[in-house]
Amino acid sequence: MLKFKLREPIGSSTYPMPGEAVDLTKTLKGLQESPTPHRDFGTIYLHVPFCDQICSFCGFNKQVSTSDVKSAYVAAVHKEIETYAAMPHVRQIQFRAVYIGGGTPNSLTKDQLSGIVKALRNNFNLSPDCEVTTEGTPQNFTEEMNASLLEAGINRISTGVQTFNTEIRKEHLHMNHTREELLGFIEVIRKSFPNFNLDLIYNLPLQTDDIWKDDIKTALGLGSKHLSVLPLVLLENTIFYSDYIVKGKYAPPDQDNEIHLFNHTVEALRASPFTDHYSMRDWAQPGYECRYITTNAKCGQILALGAGAHGYLAGQTYRNIRSTQRYIQSMKDAGLPLEAQRFATRSEEMQRFMVMGLRLNTFDTSAFNAMFNVSIDEVFGEKLQVLVDSGYLARNGATFHHTDSGLIWGNNLRTYFEEQKACTVGYADTRGAGSTGKEHYSAITRIKASGDVEANIIDILPEAKSPADTAEEIASV
Ligand SMILES: C[S@@+](CC[C@H](N)C(=O)[O-])C[C@H]1O[C@@H](n2cnc3c(N)ncnc32)[C@H](O)[C@@H]1O
Ligand code: SF4
Repeated sequence: MLKFKLREPIGSSTYPMPGEAVDLTKTLKGLQESPTPHRDFGTIYLHVPFCDQICSFCGFNKQVSTSDVKSAYVAAVHKEIETYAAMPHVRQIQFRAVYIGGGTPNSLTKDQLSGIVKALRNNFNLSPDCEVTTEGTPQNFTEEMNASLLEAGINRISTGVQTFNTEIRKEHLHMNHTREELLGFIEVIRKSFPNFNLDLIYNLPLQTDDIWKDDIKTALGLGSKHLSVLPLVLLENTIFYSDYIVKGKYAPPDQDNEIHLFNHTVEALRASPFTDHYSMRDWAQPGYECRYITTNAKCGQILALGAGAHGYLAGQTYRNIRSTQRYIQSMKDAGLPLEAQRFATRSEEMQRFMVMGLRLNTFDTSAFNAMFNVSIDEVFGEKLQVLVDSGYLARNGATFHHTDSGLIWGNNLRTYFEEQKACTVGYADTRGAGSTGKEHYSAITRIKASGDVEANIIDILPEAKSPADTAEEIASV
């Protein structure tokens, strides 16, 4: 039996982590070549690192900035788009989803944001039914902004609520608006966009059972088609990090309470129109799964644009320069704004298949054989069997389903397949904390780092191999 001590709250958004110095000659060579048939589809992620105000919990790559810096950034993004659009490899990828994330993309002007969307549409091969999402704060999706975004081709919105509770929002999250104002902003979004997502966070300080139940109940009635429900993650360089860890202002987030709130969420949403619990933290009404998530889970390529964005292109995972100023400068100079990269080995590609695929609660592994010319059972059979025997996954031929316990520990199941132990971050553009990515959580006995998978496993019966043994076998495949 395999048991995990500490719940992994995020899960890797990319694998393997790009930690190597950039070899631009090798990168450019790869970008001149055609993708293999299994790599001819993908998504685009574009990062906008600006916000109007900074929320206490948020560790994403973001800053409050001037209109001059924003204009220079938008110009740099256009140049990056044009640079990639000239690459044969990129020209042949069909993109099934675009995700403009932040930061707060709608802290740009409507013309700046719409101009970026149009440039993406004009320069890349987007599928006819391409999902084009932008994130943004509820208050900035004004009628004028929405009209402009619709005209440019945005067809999905994702916006951060976190909680509807006015006191928690204002006094603890540094979010300016009351519940009533928030409901008004969401109504403006609903009138323009049939397809929108709300983000909620559970296990926030002072968020009682009743407050969380009210958050879920309220979110269900607002016309969204999708809910992303995330546990609070303490990230370095946030106000919360200093509130919790340095000042001890709040009791450490409690894992049992986190699981309790998660179980309540699963139960409440099962009895709602959001019956499609397709990824551990995402619920959709039927037909409204986020295609950006499902395409990435199938190991499509990811063209990442903008400061700090993480991508997966032409056999490499890569990270763009994180600093906004240095990103802008690098786009004035020749070349690509890469900060780090890693050309994945064949076994890392296989591990990526597992890490990305297990984001989905129904994981169809049938593509593995065609991609790698070897059966999944030959490579990962024993580890998968451990997860089935331990009650996390149920198997039906090539398809694996998370059990109720698998839903709770879903991100741990993903890290179980990561051989690369260091510096795995969960959010594509989040500042990793500590030398192993998330190790600071252990300081408040809350979480272990992805880089410490074995230490997080508390019970393996003798017949199951240790992850270390199995990892060596994978490496030799
Ligand atoms: C990058 S933010 C962009 C959303 C947009 N700026 C807004 O505020 O509406 C995307 C989402 O990440 C989630 N998030 C950010 N930091 C988090 C944390 N520390 N723990 C859990 N979720 C977090 C929030 O739910 C947030 O809405
Ligand atoms: S949650 Fe959104 S608005 Fe708040 S700091 Fe993060 S990116 Fe900015």
